[in-house]
Amino acid sequence: MPGFELIGKEERDEVNSVFDSGGVLMRHAFDAKRNNTYKVKEFESEFSKKMGVKYSLAVTSGTSALRVALASLDIGEGDEVITQSFTFVATVEAIIESRAIPICTEVDATLNMDPEDLLRRITPKTKAVIVVHMLGTPARLEEIQKICVDKGIILIEDTAWGCGGNLKGKPLGTWGRIGTFSFDFAKTMTTGEGGMIVFQNQEDYEKAFAWHDHGHENNPKVPRWEDTRSGSGFNYRMMELQGAVGLAQLKKLDGIVQSQRANKAKLIQLLEGIPGIKLRELPEGSYDTADALVFMVETNELAKKIRGKLLEIGISTKILPEAVTWHFAGTWNHMPELVSSHSEPLEKAFPKTMELLSRSVSLPIFVNMEDQMINKVADCIQSTINTF
Ligand SMILES: Cc1ncc(COP(=O)(O)O)c(C=O)c1O
Repeated sequence: MPGFELIGKEERDEVNSVFDSGGVLMRHAFDAKRNNTYKVKEFESEFSKKMGVKYSLAVTSGTSALRVALASLDIGEGDEVITQSFTFVATVEAIIESRAIPICTEVDATLNMDPEDLLRRITPKTKAVIVVHMLGTPARLEEIQKICVDKGIILIEDTAWGCGGNLKGKPLGTWGRIGTFSFDFAKTMTTGEGGMIVFQNQEDYEKAFAWHDHGHENNPKVPRWEDTRSGSGFNYRMMELQGAVGLAQLKKLDGIVQSQRANKAKLIQLLEGIPGIKLRELPEGSYDTADALVFMVETNELAKKIRGKLLEIGISTKILPEAVTWHFAGTWNHMPELVSSHSEPLEKAFPKTMELLSRSVSLPIFVNMEDQMINKVADCIQSTINTF
């Protein structure tokens, strides 16, 4: 799960260095006062190197990253944007906030976008697809990318959970035209709240840069208060303290993912022998972030029973089965835009997803997870299934 387990001296030193060099907390301006310290800019540059892209833009959250991405592509009124029905509400909120039409697909056994259902839901109005790597597992990117290329649709990756993962060696977030990341406190690396957007092309980046900062073009020829502008925008700027924490966390990212993967592998070994358990599928060539281990059992009743028994020994599950309401579009009747864009009532619109999620259990994976804890989790699951 998380970078928060490793917050320590490195983050504190980075934050202190902002105060020690003049205490300018805004990413822009105040050049004479800041002793050449630009943490957000440095964070973007290091993130670009890590992802192997030219352009990164830090923002205030993973939700705003999605909103800015859509704005930079001029997606709005009348455009359909397709995402998957198993995601966090934020993905759909960003589409609605852009005044576009949100459409959701079923997921398949990867618990990410089902490419066949994606094909069925594309219409002449479809402008973009937002694929999500839920709980750090890559979606079927090769198939989905091919569909988007064939149909001339823009691919965006919501990589909120997938930072540090890859598919066939290519980092998650860099397969689409734009990739968005979240650094909220529960994510693989964290800045408390925060997000990042990576771009394949300069024009998208420049539009996003201006839009996330009230339209400021950051024209080097004039001071900021005389800056040029060609459109309006909003304020989604990341601030320097977040940039400082991000720099320290980024250096820990590979280690976090490696530890999680090692812990997940140990748990898988113990669970594989238990009859009635089916692990979530991973596309071939997946290097997941191992944020969670998801498996399916035969019934919803058993999934809930497993959660109950784990809670008794002080271990919580993660999203599945307990918090599916925040993560499954079939329950989002509070979003009239989503209700009206689907021909069936939402609770009937994604039967395959509903069936899969209802019997799924998601176990959080930690960086610091001792073998004793891993054994305890596996024993608890085994004995619950045996006595069910
Ligand atoms: C799939 C997905 N997209 C976007 C977000 C939004 O990220 P943030 O919490 O940084 O706004 C989340 C947050 O959990 C998420 O799970």
